[in-house]
Amino acid sequence: MPTIDRPDYDIDAWRKRIPLLGSLIPMNNCSQAPQTSETRAAADRYLESWNRSGMDWDAWVEEVQLAKQEFARLINASVDEIALCSSVSEATSAIATAIRFDGRRRKVVVTEAEFPTVGHVWRAQERHGAELSWVPVCDGMIEPSSYDASIDDETAIVSACHGYYLNGFTQNLADLAARAHAAGALVYVDAYQTLGTVPVDVRATGVDFLASGNLKFLMGIPGVAFLYVRRELIERLEPTITGWFGRVSPFSFQVKQLDWSPTASRFDSGTPPVVNAYIARAGMEIINDVGVTHIREWLEVLGQRLIDGGRTRGLTLHGTDDMSRKTATTAFVVEDSHAIEVAMRARGVLPSARGPVIRLAPHFYNTLADVDMALDALAAVAPPA
Ligand SMILES: Cc1ncc(COP(=O)(O)O)c(C=O)c1O
Repeated sequence: MPTIDRPDYDIDAWRKRIPLLGSLIPMNNCSQAPQTSETRAAADRYLESWNRSGMDWDAWVEEVQLAKQEFARLINASVDEIALCSSVSEATSAIATAIRFDGRRRKVVVTEAEFPTVGHVWRAQERHGAELSWVPVCDGMIEPSSYDASIDDETAIVSACHGYYLNGFTQNLADLAARAHAAGALVYVDAYQTLGTVPVDVRATGVDFLASGNLKFLMGIPGVAFLYVRRELIERLEPTITGWFGRVSPFSFQVKQLDWSPTASRFDSGTPPVVNAYIARAGMEIINDVGVTHIREWLEVLGQRLIDGGRTRGLTLHGTDDMSRKTATTAFVVEDSHAIEVAMRARGVLPSARGPVIRLAPHFYNTLADVDMALDALAAVAPPA
């Protein structure tokens, strides 16, 4: 267990591997994680391979496979249940286009807490017969019972974020899966705002699909995302977003043959984002090596400090103050969030502005001193009314 002021891993050693800490305090992990020496070295490995060999597709495709494996390790899945996409939008579309909406089960239950892109993908299915039912957000949260008015025996799928991008509120995945399955519906989870900070076990929770990109708490970059598909479902689903890497043998070059990989690779599409996969793997290795359970313990300390410190400074919290129902991402309501972000950066702290709030999103390498400095900077540039 962490002590009151230190996590139970070597935080100083990790901080030395994040050059940005020399000039700024990154508290914007809900938006973009900082570069580490590990992710930098991974990018260099790809560039060196490209430079040295001209091309090395065998090694590059193998690296993509290793990145899938690292993602599988993170969520307790097996590598053949993981597909590689370029974004969560693409992953959501891959699932959405594999579902038929022309029968009795045509309802999509989707929450108002989704990152807009997920809502957009489901709305785009309306022309194929999907009927959306929205689960409301109240006071920055969703009560589990709010799903009851929407989920019924006409529901094809429930689409829910694990963590709310606006304020870090988290939902109970096992409870969600149980509610969906009791009605015979599938459940799709966008875990972009939680992976890397909260332990997620797809087997224990029973979710059917789970997607995440890499640039936030997984310490990576844009252009790559991963999609988990529960093994029992894989062979029943044929996405219309597809391409040659979704085939049984991508290198057989049979233009008229649309066969489907027996693994979740059937959700892959075109040439994979290789350099992104190198970096993604290195970022996820950091998280898996530090250990998400240890990270969560430390982030509970930092999250509580943000809640208490915000209160002391008269800042207005958005959403719950119950750390057991949120990530460490803590949002405060401000007048002009973009201007506040710029002003905080000038004071050496990098927050993340989103609509009506400033988000302070620490990660495993942040200290209590970082959190205090971020709160001081916010209180200085956004004094309470
Ligand atoms: C919860 C969540 N889902 C999805 C996205 C974006 O997904 P995409 O990879 O499609 O840009 C974000 C933020 O950028 C997010 O916070």
